[in-house]
Amino acid sequence: MRIERARGTRDFLPKEMRKRRIMEERMRDVAERWGYEEIRTPTFERAELFTLKSGEAILEEMYEFKDKGGRHLALRPELTAPVIRMYINELKMASKPTKVYYFGNCFRYEEPQKARYREFWQFGTEIIGSDRPEAQAELIALAFNILKSLGVKAELHVGHVGLIRERLRAAQVDGKQINTAMRLIDKGERQAVVELMNEAGVKKDLIDDLLCLLDSKGKNTLQEVRDRNIIAADSDALRELELLLEYLDYYGVDYKLNLGIARGLDYYTGMVFEIYEAGGKLGAQNQICGGGSYRLATLFGGDDIPLTGFAFGFDRLAEIFSVDDKDLERRGVVVVPIRDKDADRGVMKEAIRITSRLREIVPAHIDLMNRSLSAQLKYANACHDSFAVLVGKNELKEANVTLRNLITGEQERMSVEDCVERLKAYFGVKGEEK
Ligand code: HAM
Repeated sequence: MRIERARGTRDFLPKEMRKRRIMEERMRDVAERWGYEEIRTPTFERAELFTLKSGEAILEEMYEFKDKGGRHLALRPELTAPVIRMYINELKMASKPTKVYYFGNCFRYEEPQKARYREFWQFGTEIIGSDRPEAQAELIALAFNILKSLGVKAELHVGHVGLIRERLRAAQVDGKQINTAMRLIDKGERQAVVELMNEAGVKKDLIDDLLCLLDSKGKNTLQEVRDRNIIAADSDALRELELLLEYLDYYGVDYKLNLGIARGLDYYTGMVFEIYEAGGKLGAQNQICGGGSYRLATLFGGDDIPLTGFAFGFDRLAEIFSVDDKDLERRGVVVVPIRDKDADRGVMKEAIRITSRLREIVPAHIDLMNRSLSAQLKYANACHDSFAVLVGKNELKEANVTLRNLITGEQERMSVEDCVERLKAYFGVKGEEK
């Protein structure tokens, strides 16, 4: 019986995995250089970790289930809430800011489409202890450095949910309705926002001010917001945003101001940002990163600590990341035992010994199917091996091997240690490690 993969999931073949490893290593490397440390949380959590902030409605979008002990659990749809839970349970005493990064799979019960999956990976960071413009600017600059390391060109949109929330509060909209409005704004459902405001009894000119705020894009936006008095002149949110933009200029990060960004998750309180792929390769799902400043800790029993973070959609990056096909080929060595008959154990044992020695230097493999010399070489070519090390009775007698370059076809007999030295030089191996 042929069994299909579950909907919205994928298999990754060796070549794709090599590409993903290259990406992962580069991303980790940048995060570590910026002083962030890796953490890992469980794949499933108590469902309430996610419903506490967003309400039961979020269950519709999650993989949630009762375990055999009757506990209500959920596969994590994101990693921010788990990281903050972990911080409160395990890391509360760590010096601040605590700067962490993570890489892990997430699960969302969404309608699968191009670049939208039910299982996908996020690479993210959180600064625990600060949501100041300095922290926000560092995070955005870090995200851009990560993109640079991957050679991905992208467009940054920066906003501030505090401004929208302030505007709504000033118009006497209550907290619950504000959350509903934020979700509608995130989905781009403008008409529904207007209807909600009408229901809430908001006056037409205030609704116009809100729409103007949501439509505000571009470098001069903040001046316009100030000139039109949409937001109080002494607004903390406005000042915070201005300072952030100043720092972004200093970091040399190009941005588009977009005050209409509301973000889908409910925990954001301040600056928010989204990064979009600029080359049109992803279609409608072109948001490759999202983040901002938020508060979540009191909800899980901690102090009200400021937080800032972001997460990349790793799969979306993988779709646009380009790497030379050559870099994705496995380049190694095959050890070829040449046996007259199946029972030729001496040759096989020596070949195993030599393979073990070579594995200290380069990826090396050995025949597992008792095949002929030509079949073994054919397999080596199919595997893109660079060298074959032939081990036969004659070589054995002289304590030698024959090293054959599979690209040029040249071959030479030599001792095992000379062979090791040759391969070290070829693969650029310093010392004994790979
Ligand atoms: P998010 O915007 O929901 O934010 O997800 C972050 C990124 O994950 C998105 O920008 C997108 O690239 C990717 N993504 C989301 N859903 C899917 C999917 N179904 N298939 C493929 N990729 C997807 C968060 O999750 C926040 N926790 C980010 C954050 C960290 N905020 C503060 N700290």
